[in-house]
Amino acid sequence: MTFRQARYDEPLVWELADGPRAQVEPPAPIPGIPERFRRTRATDWPELSEPEVVRHYTRLSQMNFGIDTMAYPLGSCTMKYNPKVSEQLARRDGAAALHPYQPEETVQGALEILWRLETALGKITGLPEVSLQPAAGAHGEYAALLMIRAHFQDKGELARRTEVLLPDTAHGTNPASAAMAGFTTREIASVDGCVDLAALKGAVSDRTAAFMLTNPNTAGLFESEIGEIAETVHGAGGMLYYDGANLNAILGVTNPGRMGFDVAHLNLHKTFATPHGGGGPGAGVLAASETLGPFLPVPRIVKRGRSYRLDYDRPKSIGKIKTGYGNFGLDLRAYAFLITHGEEGLRHISRRAVLNANYLGQKLGKFLPRPFRTLVKHEFLLSGAPLKAKGVRTLDLAKRLLDEGYHAPTIYFPSLVDEALMIEFPETESRRELDGFAAAFERAVTDTPEHLHEAPTATSVRRVDEVLAARQLHLSRKDLGPAQPS
Ligand SMILES: Cc1ncc(COP(=O)(O)O)c(C=O)c1O
Repeated sequence: MTFRQARYDEPLVWELADGPRAQVEPPAPIPGIPERFRRTRATDWPELSEPEVVRHYTRLSQMNFGIDTMAYPLGSCTMKYNPKVSEQLARRDGAAALHPYQPEETVQGALEILWRLETALGKITGLPEVSLQPAAGAHGEYAALLMIRAHFQDKGELARRTEVLLPDTAHGTNPASAAMAGFTTREIASVDGCVDLAALKGAVSDRTAAFMLTNPNTAGLFESEIGEIAETVHGAGGMLYYDGANLNAILGVTNPGRMGFDVAHLNLHKTFATPHGGGGPGAGVLAASETLGPFLPVPRIVKRGRSYRLDYDRPKSIGKIKTGYGNFGLDLRAYAFLITHGEEGLRHISRRAVLNANYLGQKLGKFLPRPFRTLVKHEFLLSGAPLKAKGVRTLDLAKRLLDEGYHAPTIYFPSLVDEALMIEFPETESRRELDGFAAAFERAVTDTPEHLHEAPTATSVRRVDEVLAARQLHLSRKDLGPAQPS
């Protein structure tokens, strides 16, 4: 496939309207809406016909990368297939038109779906107490750390348990969440991409509140010493925290509960095929052991006979962390995904994701070195360091892959690998797609430095000066001048 992204000289929707702007008068006040929230001025909307609006947004969408047109090899933050049937379900009136504060007796069906999802996720994680509230992975991490805080406060140990330990492969949100929850952080070195057990043993103490780990880790490696890691952390009285963003590698094979973790956050928008990215709503579900369960945020969903209700009477809870209860649309999509696949189907997803990573890893390992051991789980790393000799950086390679019609992989993470590229294709990508990517990768890696520096040339936007863009924000298209001719 020759890739060429659409390039339109597309103005802002405001600039499209040449006639007078529609003056939409403020609506008659709706009873019950406080005075201070009422619109007082007429709106200033561009006057455009429906086809003009549809064409405008369709053209913009054609100038973008999207999972429906391109494959995404993003490691760590993989872009999963979002089944269209789940989208249809989430858009039905019975789901989309629900109000988060509707009386419980009018949303029994929705509460039942949430309760069933919680029960299923409790089984999948091996951690029975589940809350769907957090709105993103990082939000789940932060809430879990507040739970750990509350637990130590309850035990009278909080003054002493001030430290959270993290491996140097940890996702950046982990130390940030720990710091936000009021802990100091301490990094544990890796050996060959996995936790250095001796370093961990030397670091744990009665100051340790928690060790945060993702398994498989962000190098795609399974931490096979997890049993001893759990014993070490628990032996010092600390809690073991599971960053479940990589759970898609081990579904139905093992689980955080079995590995000895006390609490986990899951990214439904990663493992369970709900939309991810674009700053949209996420779902960073929490799953906890019986010890930490009482500290989960309120409300909790309880089932009494055949009815469901939201229970706020949890004296040890960290309290409320979000308006409403989770992001219902995402929870519904995840539930649909779970019941469509069933237990065996979920196991198949993980096997297939692991197979894809190892198949592609073997192919790409011919072009660039693979740090650490090469038998991986759902993602793998390459180092672009050898390209530096010809003046090429990993960034150039990532930009060049855009010209081949692939979204760039994750780059420069984890930082312990020089010029890192982290690649993950989820289970839905076929062998043909993987072979296509391998061929594109070969063309990119063997291209001339001049081409690599110039890339991307086939996209609607060429290479931008990212530092300048961050420092001099232009929030109006007018500031950018005319689009480049294609
Ligand atoms: C390993 C890991 N942890 C945490 C997160 C944070 O999740 P979120 O982006 O939903 O805040 C991610 C992001 O995908 C991740 O890959």
